[in-house]
Amino acid sequence: MTGRSARPKATMNETIPQLSSYDETSLDAAFATLGAEVRDETSTPHDAEAFRLRWLGRKQGRLKLVSDAWLKSAPAEARKPLGMRFNQLKQQIEAALAGATATPLASAKKAGIDITLPGAVRASGIQHPLLKTMNEIVAVFHHLGYSTALGPQVESDFYNFEALNFPPNHPARDTQDTLVVAGQQSRPSRDRLLMRTHTSPVQIRTMVAQAAPVRIVVPGKVHRNDAADATHSPVFHQVEGLCVDTNITFSDLKGTLDHAMKALFGSGVKTRFFPSFFPFTEPSADVQISCIFCAGKGCRKCKQSGWIELLGCGMVDPAVFASVDQQREAQGLPRAYGTAKISGFAFGMGVERIAMIQHGISDIGHFYSGDMRFLEQFA
Ligand code: DAH
Repeated sequence: MTGRSARPKATMNETIPQLSSYDETSLDAAFATLGAEVRDETSTPHDAEAFRLRWLGRKQGRLKLVSDAWLKSAPAEARKPLGMRFNQLKQQIEAALAGATATPLASAKKAGIDITLPGAVRASGIQHPLLKTMNEIVAVFHHLGYSTALGPQVESDFYNFEALNFPPNHPARDTQDTLVVAGQQSRPSRDRLLMRTHTSPVQIRTMVAQAAPVRIVVPGKVHRNDAADATHSPVFHQVEGLCVDTNITFSDLKGTLDHAMKALFGSGVKTRFFPSFFPFTEPSADVQISCIFCAGKGCRKCKQSGWIELLGCGMVDPAVFASVDQQREAQGLPRAYGTAKISGFAFGMGVERIAMIQHGISDIGHFYSGDMRFLEQFA
């Protein structure tokens, strides 16, 4: 036997795996090696025609070699399992070839699509101006160590009013014209549901669940039965704040809100605190900032006063702490608020009002109109 006559066989054995036996494990291993080779060759850019020749070539194609070396000499009982695997490999090769010829470019051409035309530009979204302002306010307080708390928009009479020291039929309720949920007459008045008129109920929910110290901000939607006009909307947004700890004083409240107003409107802004009334704070105050349009000189925006009223605040009323402790006890929790050392302050502001002043917007309706010409200005 010469070296030359032995060569064809040697070539075959070099380019396809040796099949040591026809049992299932050996067949699986051998075909897995070939399948992996096909995948390797097609996973990167390749010449489809060279690939076709290498695997399906009539004379020296690898499938032909496999067929010659393995199929022809297979014992009768191995024919079927071998043939099945052979066909699977063939299908894999053909599928790879079909994929290579169906490039996106080729299919687009076939469908008569000119992919060189410019595409439709899809504008990326932006934060709604209200959400932007709300996040700004919340961020100012996060930097002071406050965390965010949330509560439900459908609230009970108890959390929205009673626990905040608005007794049933008290005239203070008239300041918040309320949208109530229908069909609640058979329930005790404290359990009747309504759309929350402010974010203050989350003060109660938080203190009932957690002992002092508390530092939270509460951003959220609130609802009132108000007719829509340039400055009112039946649905609007507030950010509430609550800070309760040992020996919190009115000067802590003043310092905190003065800092927050400077952070939101610029360091040149001044604040002043005006006596006011809220049932859940005592004393209560309205906070005014020096008019940012005329720097306090007096203009149409501030009605010539030089000041703009922006938010309500005050020291947490002892009646609120008492109500919270009562509920904590009812839930088997220790009293945590009605002690001599614990005190706190609260505040609440309207997001729309602040955003309108920040951007000089004169009609609240712009926020809800969905008019792109308005919204695009905040991109
Ligand atoms: N909840 C009040 C309102 O909607 C705003 C408010 C005033 C909140 C004083 C407070 C506060 O926390 O202390 O009219």
